[in-house]
Amino acid sequence: MNAPSTYQRVLFVGPGLGAGAAAEAFGAEIRQLLGAGAAHAIVDTLDGFDGLWACLRATFAEGVTCVLVVDLEPTSDGAYLDWLRDELGRLAREQAHAPKVWVTAQALGRRGLDAQAACASIGQASRHLACEQVSAVAADPDWSRIPAHARQVFLCTGPRCVRRGALPLWKQLRRQLLERQLIETPGGVLLTRTGCQFPCNLGPVLTVYPDACWYRVRDEAEVRRLVEGHLAGGEVVPGLLIEGGRPHD
Ligand code: FES
Repeated sequence: MNAPSTYQRVLFVGPGLGAGAAAEAFGAEIRQLLGAGAAHAIVDTLDGFDGLWACLRATFAEGVTCVLVVDLEPTSDGAYLDWLRDELGRLAREQAHAPKVWVTAQALGRRGLDAQAACASIGQASRHLACEQVSAVAADPDWSRIPAHARQVFLCTGPRCVRRGALPLWKQLRRQLLERQLIETPGGVLLTRTGCQFPCNLGPVLTVYPDACWYRVRDEAEVRRLVEGHLAGGEVVPGLLIEGGRPHD
C-alpha cells in the first residue's frame, strides 16, 4: 500500500519526549516547523506504550483516517518496528471506519532529538511503512525464544540520563555493535532499555551482565571504548566504571 502524500495526524513517539529541556525544545521546534495549526501530537514512551495506544484511539475517535507515526526510539531495530507496526495495525483494525497508519523511523539525529529531521521524515513517503499485513511477524519463531547473546546490556532511559544525552549515545552504541555484527548473535549483545537505574547523577548509566559492571558513558569516544574493550573484547574497562561499579570485586 503506497503512503499518502499528506496525513491528517502526525504522532512523534519516543522515550523522554514528555519532560525536560530537550523535550521542551523539541516540542517548540516542531510547533514552529509545522505551524501552530498542524495536527500533531508528541507521545512519551518512557514508561511504556499505553499512552501511545490511548492517543491513537482518541485520534481515531475524532474520525481521523490517515495517521503517520514518527518513531524516535533510539534502540529501534527491525524486530521492534515490526512489533510496533503490528500493534498499530491491530488498533486500526478495531475501528469501524478503517483508518490507516504508517510508521517512519530513525529520525533521531547524531546529537539527539532533531526536530528538523523528524519533520523532514514526514515528506519521505518512500520510507513510510504501512501497518497492515504484518501479522506474519507475530508468528515469527524469533518472538518465542531468547535471542542469542553473551552479554545483556541494560541502557538507562530514565529522565535524568535522557537529559544527560543518553538517547543518541545508545543509538551510537547500537550502530557500533551492528557494524561488528554483535547484536543478538552468539558472543554478542542483547540491548534492553530500562527506566532509572538509580545512580542518576553519574549518568548516562548502562549496566553489563552477567559481568555486573556499572558504566558511565558520556560521549561517542567512550561508547567506542566500551564496545572495543568490553562488549567486543571481553575485558572490563576500568576508566568507564562508576565508583563501586564492579560490586563482586
Ligand atoms: S535516570 Fe538513569 S540512573 Fe536514574
